[in-house]
Amino acid sequence: MTLFIQSMQYSLSFPSGEVNYIFSNATEALTAITAKDSCILITDANVAALYPPFFEGYKTLIVSAGEANKTWESIKIVAEKLLEYEAHRNTLLIGVGGGVITDLTGFIASTYMRGVAFGYIPTTLLGMADAAIGGKNGINLGLHKNILGTIQQPKFLLYDVAFLSTLPDEEWSNGFAEVIKYACLFDEALYQELSQHNIHFYKHNDQDLERLIAKCADWKNKTVLADEKEQNGRKLLNFGHTAGHAIETLYNLPHGQAVALGMIIACTVSEKACGLNSAVKENLKALLLQYNLPVQLLINPGRVMEILIMDKKRNQDSIDFIVLNKVGEAEIKSLSFDIIQQALVSFAHASSN
Ligand SMILES: NC(=O)c1ccc[n+]([C@@H]2O[C@H](COP(=O)([O-])OP(=O)(O)OC[C@H]3O[C@@H](n4cnc5c(N)ncnc54)[C@H](O)[C@@H]3O)[C@@H](O)[C@H]2O)c1
Repeated sequence: MTLFIQSMQYSLSFPSGEVNYIFSNATEALTAITAKDSCILITDANVAALYPPFFEGYKTLIVSAGEANKTWESIKIVAEKLLEYEAHRNTLLIGVGGGVITDLTGFIASTYMRGVAFGYIPTTLLGMADAAIGGKNGINLGLHKNILGTIQQPKFLLYDVAFLSTLPDEEWSNGFAEVIKYACLFDEALYQELSQHNIHFYKHNDQDLERLIAKCADWKNKTVLADEKEQNGRKLLNFGHTAGHAIETLYNLPHGQAVALGMIIACTVSEKACGLNSAVKENLKALLLQYNLPVQLLINPGRVMEILIMDKKRNQDSIDFIVLNKVGEAEIKSLSFDIIQQALVSFAHASSN
Protein backbone atom coordinates (compact mmCIF):
# COMPACT_ATOMS: atom_id res chain seq x y z
CA MET A 1 0.00 0.00 0.00
CA THR A 2 1.25 3.50 -0.83
CA LEU A 3 1.70 6.18 1.73
CA PHE A 4 -0.49 9.03 0.60
CA ILE A 5 2.16 11.75 0.73
CA GLN A 6 4.05 9.88 -1.95
CA SER A 7 1.27 10.21 -4.46
CA MET A 8 -1.41 12.78 -5.16
CA GLN A 9 -4.07 10.18 -5.78
CA TYR A 10 -4.71 6.47 -5.37
CA SER A 11 -7.71 4.22 -4.94
CA LEU A 12 -8.50 1.25 -2.71
CA SER A 13 -11.07 -1.45 -3.47
CA PHE A 14 -13.24 -2.44 -0.52
CA PRO A 15 -15.95 -5.09 -0.85
CA SER A 16 -18.62 -2.35 -0.58
CA GLY A 17 -16.94 -0.03 -3.05
CA GLU A 18 -13.87 1.73 -4.34
CA VAL A 19 -12.50 4.75 -2.49
CA ASN A 20 -10.48 7.37 -4.28
CA TYR A 21 -7.91 9.15 -2.08
CA ILE A 22 -7.02 12.63 -3.29
CA PHE A 23 -4.39 14.85 -1.66
CA SER A 24 -4.69 18.33 -2.94
CA ASN A 25 -5.95 21.84 -2.49
CA ALA A 26 -9.58 21.19 -1.51
CA THR A 27 -11.15 24.00 -3.53
CA GLU A 28 -9.36 23.06 -6.75
CA ALA A 29 -9.84 19.33 -6.32
CA LEU A 30 -13.55 19.64 -5.56
CA THR A 31 -14.08 21.66 -8.74
CA ALA A 32 -12.37 18.88 -10.67
CA ILE A 33 -14.43 16.10 -9.02
CA THR A 34 -17.92 17.49 -9.49
CA ALA A 35 -19.97 20.32 -10.93
CA LYS A 36 -21.35 22.72 -8.34
CA ASP A 37 -24.95 21.91 -9.25
CA SER A 38 -24.47 18.11 -8.99
CA CYS A 39 -23.62 18.00 -5.31
CA ILE A 40 -24.74 19.19 -1.91
CA LEU A 41 -22.21 19.94 0.82
CA ILE A 42 -22.97 19.10 4.44
CA THR A 43 -20.95 20.86 7.12
CA ASP A 44 -21.22 22.25 10.63
CA ALA A 45 -21.68 25.84 11.75
CA ASN A 46 -18.03 26.24 12.85
CA VAL A 47 -16.51 25.04 9.59
CA ALA A 48 -19.03 27.05 7.54
CA ALA A 49 -18.13 30.21 9.48
CA LEU A 50 -14.37 29.63 9.14
CA TYR A 51 -14.30 28.87 5.41
CA PRO A 52 -16.99 30.91 3.58
CA PRO A 53 -15.05 31.09 0.26
CA PHE A 54 -14.78 27.30 0.15
CA PHE A 55 -18.59 26.91 0.18
CA GLU A 56 -19.28 29.73 -2.28
CA GLY A 57 -21.60 28.65 -5.09
CA TYR A 58 -22.41 25.24 -3.56
CA LYS A 59 -25.75 24.25 -2.07
CA THR A 60 -24.72 23.75 1.55
CA LEU A 61 -26.56 22.26 4.51
CA ILE A 62 -25.26 23.52 7.85
CA VAL A 63 -25.73 21.37 10.94
CA SER A 64 -25.10 22.62 14.51
CA ALA A 65 -21.58 21.65 15.60
CA GLY A 66 -20.75 18.95 18.11
CA GLU A 67 -21.40 15.37 19.15
CA ALA A 68 -24.80 16.30 20.62
CA ASN A 69 -25.99 16.69 17.02
CA LYS A 70 -25.01 13.21 15.77
CA THR A 71 -28.64 12.16 16.23
CA TRP A 72 -31.89 11.19 14.55
CA GLU A 73 -33.05 14.77 14.88
CA SER A 74 -30.19 16.00 12.68
CA ILE A 75 -30.80 13.19 10.19
CA LYS A 76 -34.44 14.28 9.94
CA ILE A 77 -33.51 17.95 9.47
CA VAL A 78 -30.93 17.11 6.79
CA ALA A 79 -33.26 14.69 4.97
CA GLU A 80 -36.04 17.28 4.87
CA LYS A 81 -33.59 19.86 3.52
CA LEU A 82 -32.43 17.39 0.86
CA LEU A 83 -36.01 17.02 -0.31
CA GLU A 84 -36.40 20.80 -0.29
CA TYR A 85 -33.23 21.07 -2.43
CA GLU A 86 -34.70 18.39 -4.74
CA ALA A 87 -31.74 16.07 -4.15
CA HIS A 88 -32.16 12.96 -6.31
CA ARG A 89 -30.40 9.63 -6.75
CA ASN A 90 -27.57 11.15 -8.72
CA THR A 91 -26.91 13.95 -6.28
CA LEU A 92 -23.50 13.60 -4.66
CA LEU A 93 -23.46 14.39 -0.91
CA ILE A 94 -20.17 15.67 0.48
CA GLY A 95 -19.41 15.89 4.19
CA VAL A 96 -16.97 18.69 5.00
CA GLY A 97 -15.97 18.64 8.65
CA GLY A 98 -14.88 16.50 11.57
CA GLY A 99 -15.99 13.00 12.50
CA VAL A 100 -19.47 14.14 13.47
CA ILE A 101 -20.13 15.52 9.99
CA THR A 102 -18.57 12.61 8.10
CA ASP A 103 -20.53 10.09 10.21
CA LEU A 104 -23.79 12.01 9.68
CA THR A 105 -23.17 12.45 5.95
CA GLY A 106 -22.35 8.77 5.45
CA PHE A 107 -25.44 7.71 7.36
CA ILE A 108 -27.83 9.98 5.50
CA ALA A 109 -26.25 9.19 2.12
CA SER A 110 -26.49 5.43 2.76
CA THR A 111 -30.21 5.71 3.50
CA TYR A 112 -31.58 8.68 1.51
CA MET A 113 -33.51 7.21 -1.46
CA ARG A 114 -31.95 3.86 -0.42
CA GLY A 115 -28.48 5.21 -0.96
CA VAL A 116 -26.77 7.97 -2.91
CA ALA A 117 -23.07 8.52 -3.61
CA PHE A 118 -21.05 10.50 -1.11
CA GLY A 119 -17.57 11.82 -0.41
CA TYR A 120 -15.69 13.25 2.54
CA ILE A 121 -13.45 16.24 3.11
CA PRO A 122 -12.20 15.73 6.68
CA THR A 123 -11.19 18.97 8.42
CA THR A 124 -10.01 17.71 11.85
CA LEU A 125 -6.93 15.68 12.70
CA LEU A 126 -9.20 13.03 14.18
CA GLY A 127 -11.20 12.92 10.96
CA MET A 128 -8.12 12.69 8.73
CA ALA A 129 -6.32 10.07 10.82
CA ASP A 130 -9.34 7.94 11.62
CA ALA A 131 -13.03 8.91 11.47
CA ALA A 132 -13.35 9.57 7.73
CA ILE A 133 -11.67 6.26 6.84
CA GLY A 134 -13.25 2.81 6.72
CA GLY A 135 -16.88 3.42 5.80
CA LYS A 136 -18.49 3.19 9.25
CA ASN A 137 -21.24 5.78 9.52
CA GLY A 138 -22.93 5.91 12.90
CA ILE A 139 -25.29 8.09 14.88
CA ASN A 140 -26.02 8.05 18.60
CA LEU A 141 -29.24 7.14 20.36
CA GLY A 142 -29.50 8.54 23.87
CA LEU A 143 -26.39 7.44 25.75
CA HIS A 144 -25.50 4.75 23.19
CA LYS A 145 -22.74 5.78 20.77
CA ASN A 146 -22.99 4.87 17.08
CA ILE A 147 -25.70 2.33 17.89
CA LEU A 148 -27.44 3.03 14.56
CA GLY A 149 -25.26 2.95 11.51
CA THR A 150 -24.16 1.59 8.18
CA ILE A 151 -20.96 0.36 6.62
CA GLN A 152 -20.71 2.01 3.25
CA GLN A 153 -17.60 3.51 1.66
CA PRO A 154 -17.44 7.09 0.40
CA LYS A 155 -16.54 7.49 -3.28
CA PHE A 156 -13.66 9.75 -2.34
CA LEU A 157 -11.68 11.18 0.53
CA LEU A 158 -10.19 14.58 -0.17
CA TYR A 159 -7.33 15.53 2.15
CA ASP A 160 -6.14 19.08 2.57
CA VAL A 161 -4.13 19.63 5.76
CA ALA A 162 -4.49 23.41 5.31
CA PHE A 163 -7.83 23.03 7.13
CA LEU A 164 -5.91 22.14 10.30
CA SER A 165 -4.50 25.69 10.56
CA THR A 166 -7.71 26.77 12.33
CA LEU A 167 -8.13 23.71 14.55
CA PRO A 168 -8.37 24.62 18.27
CA ASP A 169 -5.73 23.14 20.62
CA GLU A 170 -8.23 20.83 22.29
CA GLU A 171 -9.12 19.29 18.91
CA TRP A 172 -5.44 18.65 18.16
CA SER A 173 -5.27 16.71 21.42
CA ASN A 174 -8.42 14.78 20.57
CA GLY A 175 -6.93 13.80 17.22
CA PHE A 176 -3.75 12.60 18.89
CA ALA A 177 -5.76 10.19 21.05
CA GLU A 178 -6.59 8.18 17.90
CA VAL A 179 -3.03 8.55 16.57
CA ILE A 180 -1.70 7.15 19.86
CA LYS A 181 -4.26 4.34 19.56
CA TYR A 182 -2.74 3.27 16.22
CA ALA A 183 0.76 3.36 17.74
CA CYS A 184 -0.35 1.19 20.68
CA LEU A 185 -2.11 -1.31 18.43
CA PHE A 186 0.31 -1.73 15.57
CA ASP A 187 3.40 0.40 15.55
CA GLU A 188 6.05 0.55 18.27
CA ALA A 189 8.27 2.80 16.12
CA LEU A 190 5.42 5.30 15.80
CA TYR A 191 4.94 5.13 19.58
CA GLN A 192 8.62 5.99 20.07
CA GLU A 193 8.38 8.84 17.56
CA LEU A 194 5.36 10.29 19.36
CA SER A 195 7.23 10.04 22.68
CA GLN A 196 9.96 12.28 21.25
CA HIS A 197 7.63 15.04 20.01
CA ASN A 198 4.53 16.98 20.99
CA ILE A 199 1.63 18.85 19.40
CA HIS A 200 3.71 22.00 18.90
CA PHE A 201 6.22 20.00 16.83
CA TYR A 202 3.62 18.49 14.48
CA LYS A 203 1.76 21.79 14.11
CA HIS A 204 4.94 23.37 12.78
CA ASN A 205 6.28 20.50 10.68
CA ASP A 206 3.80 19.83 7.89
CA GLN A 207 5.70 16.93 6.35
CA ASP A 208 5.96 15.09 9.67
CA LEU A 209 2.27 15.73 10.28
CA GLU A 210 1.30 14.41 6.85
CA ARG A 211 3.49 11.35 7.37
CA LEU A 212 1.80 10.76 10.72
CA ILE A 213 -1.69 10.99 9.23
CA ALA A 214 -0.58 8.72 6.38
CA LYS A 215 0.65 6.06 8.80
CA CYS A 216 -2.65 6.02 10.68
CA ALA A 217 -4.63 5.97 7.42
CA ASP A 218 -2.52 3.04 6.19
CA TRP A 219 -3.00 1.05 9.40
CA LYS A 220 -6.74 1.64 9.30
CA ASN A 221 -7.07 0.84 5.60
CA LYS A 222 -5.02 -2.33 5.96
CA THR A 223 -7.25 -3.50 8.81
CA VAL A 224 -10.51 -2.57 7.09
CA LEU A 225 -9.48 -4.09 3.75
CA ALA A 226 -9.04 -7.42 5.56
CA ASP A 227 -12.37 -7.24 7.42
CA GLU A 228 -14.69 -4.48 6.23
CA LYS A 229 -17.78 -5.75 8.08
CA GLU A 230 -15.98 -6.15 11.41
CA GLN A 231 -16.40 -9.88 11.76
CA ASN A 232 -12.98 -10.23 13.33
CA GLY A 233 -9.75 -8.19 12.93
CA ARG A 234 -11.44 -4.80 12.49
CA LYS A 235 -12.58 -5.06 16.10
CA LEU A 236 -8.97 -4.25 17.06
CA LEU A 237 -9.61 -0.65 16.05
CA ASN A 238 -11.91 -0.39 19.07
CA PHE A 239 -8.94 -0.37 21.48
CA GLY A 240 -9.89 2.15 24.18
CA HIS A 241 -13.38 2.61 22.72
CA THR A 242 -15.41 0.06 24.71
CA ALA A 243 -15.09 1.89 28.03
CA GLY A 244 -14.31 5.12 26.14
CA HIS A 245 -17.69 5.30 24.39
CA ALA A 246 -19.58 4.71 27.64
CA ILE A 247 -17.57 7.43 29.40
CA GLU A 248 -17.93 9.79 26.44
CA THR A 249 -21.71 9.83 26.55
CA LEU A 250 -22.11 9.55 30.32
CA TYR A 251 -19.71 12.41 31.14
CA ASN A 252 -20.20 14.39 27.95
CA LEU A 253 -16.52 14.30 26.99
CA PRO A 254 -14.99 14.88 23.55
CA HIS A 255 -14.35 11.62 21.71
CA GLY A 256 -10.55 11.88 21.87
CA GLN A 257 -10.47 12.52 25.62
CA ALA A 258 -12.80 9.59 26.21
CA VAL A 259 -10.63 7.31 24.06
CA ALA A 260 -7.55 8.37 26.07
CA LEU A 261 -9.27 7.34 29.31
CA GLY A 262 -10.61 4.20 27.65
CA MET A 263 -7.07 3.17 26.66
CA ILE A 264 -5.93 3.51 30.30
CA ILE A 265 -8.85 1.32 31.40
CA ALA A 266 -8.06 -1.15 28.60
CA CYS A 267 -4.49 -1.39 29.93
CA THR A 268 -5.83 -2.27 33.39
CA VAL A 269 -8.07 -4.91 31.79
CA SER A 270 -5.02 -6.18 29.87
CA GLU A 271 -2.99 -6.46 33.10
CA LYS A 272 -5.73 -8.63 34.58
CA ALA A 273 -6.59 -10.63 31.45
CA CYS A 274 -3.20 -11.23 29.85
CA GLY A 275 -0.52 -10.06 32.24
CA LEU A 276 0.39 -6.78 30.53
CA ASN A 277 3.33 -5.22 32.37
CA SER A 278 2.02 -2.31 34.47
CA ALA A 279 4.93 -0.15 33.24
CA VAL A 280 3.15 0.00 29.83
CA LYS A 281 0.16 1.79 31.37
CA GLU A 282 2.38 4.23 33.26
CA ASN A 283 4.31 4.99 30.07
CA LEU A 284 1.07 5.46 28.11
CA LYS A 285 -0.22 7.87 30.76
CA ALA A 286 2.92 9.98 30.35
CA LEU A 287 2.49 9.98 26.56
CA LEU A 288 -1.18 11.00 26.78
CA LEU A 289 -0.30 13.84 29.18
CA GLN A 290 2.39 14.96 26.72
CA TYR A 291 -0.42 15.45 24.17
CA ASN A 292 -2.64 17.24 26.74
CA LEU A 293 -5.03 14.33 27.14
CA PRO A 294 -6.62 13.26 30.44
CA VAL A 295 -5.53 10.10 32.27
CA GLN A 296 -7.96 10.11 35.18
CA LEU A 297 -11.62 10.82 35.83
CA LEU A 298 -13.87 10.29 38.82
CA ILE A 299 -16.24 7.80 37.24
CA ASN A 300 -19.11 5.82 38.69
CA PRO A 301 -18.12 2.26 37.64
CA GLY A 302 -21.68 0.95 37.99
CA ARG A 303 -23.14 3.63 35.68
CA VAL A 304 -20.33 3.14 33.12
CA MET A 305 -20.96 -0.61 33.20
CA GLU A 306 -24.70 -0.15 32.58
CA ILE A 307 -23.93 1.58 29.27
CA LEU A 308 -20.95 -0.57 28.38
CA ILE A 309 -22.92 -3.82 28.43
CA MET A 310 -24.89 -2.58 25.42
CA ASP A 311 -21.65 -2.23 23.41
CA LYS A 312 -21.86 -3.61 19.87
CA LYS A 313 -19.12 -6.16 20.61
CA ARG A 314 -21.16 -7.73 23.38
CA ASN A 315 -22.13 -11.42 23.29
CA GLN A 316 -24.57 -13.11 25.69
CA ASP A 317 -22.43 -13.09 28.87
CA SER A 318 -19.18 -11.63 27.59
CA ILE A 319 -17.73 -8.94 25.44
CA ASP A 320 -15.05 -8.97 22.73
CA PHE A 321 -12.55 -6.67 24.38
CA ILE A 322 -9.32 -5.35 22.83
CA VAL A 323 -6.37 -6.08 25.09
CA LEU A 324 -2.75 -5.07 24.68
CA ASN A 325 0.03 -7.66 24.99
CA LYS A 326 2.68 -4.98 24.56
CA VAL A 327 3.00 -1.71 22.65
CA GLY A 328 2.46 -2.61 18.99
CA GLU A 329 0.66 -5.89 19.67
CA ALA A 330 -3.01 -6.29 20.57
CA GLU A 331 -5.61 -9.05 20.45
CA ILE A 332 -9.36 -9.55 20.75
CA LYS A 333 -10.33 -11.48 23.87
CA SER A 334 -13.78 -12.60 24.92
CA LEU A 335 -13.96 -11.41 28.53
CA SER A 336 -16.53 -11.67 31.29
CA PHE A 337 -18.23 -8.45 32.38
CA ASP A 338 -16.70 -9.07 35.84
CA ILE A 339 -13.15 -8.44 34.76
CA ILE A 340 -14.14 -5.17 33.09
CA GLN A 341 -16.12 -4.09 36.14
CA GLN A 342 -13.02 -4.73 38.30
CA ALA A 343 -10.89 -2.59 35.98
CA LEU A 344 -13.43 0.25 36.12
CA VAL A 345 -13.39 0.09 39.92
CA SER A 346 -9.59 0.23 40.06
CA PHE A 347 -9.54 3.11 37.51
CA ALA A 348 -12.08 5.04 39.64
CA HIS A 349 -10.01 4.32 42.74
CA ALA A 350 -6.75 5.46 41.09
CA SER A 351 -8.49 8.63 39.85
CA SER A 352 -9.63 9.54 43.36
CA ASN A 353 -6.07 9.47 44.79
N1 LIG B 1 -16.73 6.42 11.57
C1 LIG B 1 -15.63 6.11 12.21
O1 LIG B 1 -14.95 5.13 11.88
C2 LIG B 1 -15.18 6.96 13.37
C3 LIG B 1 -13.91 6.77 13.93
C4 LIG B 1 -13.50 7.61 14.97
C5 LIG B 1 -14.36 8.61 15.43
N2 LIG B 1 -15.60 8.76 14.87
C6 LIG B 1 -16.51 9.79 15.33
O2 LIG B 1 -15.91 11.06 15.08
C7 LIG B 1 -16.45 12.01 15.99
C8 LIG B 1 -15.32 12.84 16.54
O3 LIG B 1 -14.71 13.50 15.46
P1 LIG B 1 -14.09 14.97 15.63
O4 LIG B 1 -13.20 14.99 16.82
O5 LIG B 1 -13.57 15.39 14.33
O6 LIG B 1 -15.38 15.80 16.10
P2 LIG B 1 -16.22 17.00 15.46
O7 LIG B 1 -16.70 16.68 14.13
O8 LIG B 1 -17.23 17.33 16.51
O9 LIG B 1 -15.16 18.17 15.35
C9 LIG B 1 -14.59 18.70 16.51
C10 LIG B 1 -14.77 20.23 16.55
O10 LIG B 1 -13.88 20.82 15.62
C11 LIG B 1 -14.58 21.76 14.81
N3 LIG B 1 -13.86 21.82 13.54
C12 LIG B 1 -13.88 20.94 12.52
N4 LIG B 1 -12.99 21.28 11.58
C13 LIG B 1 -12.39 22.41 12.01
C14 LIG B 1 -11.37 23.23 11.48
N5 LIG B 1 -10.73 22.95 10.35
N6 LIG B 1 -11.02 24.36 12.18
C15 LIG B 1 -11.62 24.63 13.37
N7 LIG B 1 -12.58 23.88 13.93
C16 LIG B 1 -12.94 22.77 13.25
C17 LIG B 1 -15.98 21.23 14.75
O11 LIG B 1 -16.90 22.24 14.43
C18 LIG B 1 -16.17 20.71 16.18
O12 LIG B 1 -16.51 21.77 17.03
C19 LIG B 1 -17.18 11.22 17.05
O13 LIG B 1 -18.56 11.31 16.83
C20 LIG B 1 -16.74 9.80 16.83
O14 LIG B 1 -17.69 8.85 17.22
C21 LIG B 1 -16.01 7.97 13.85
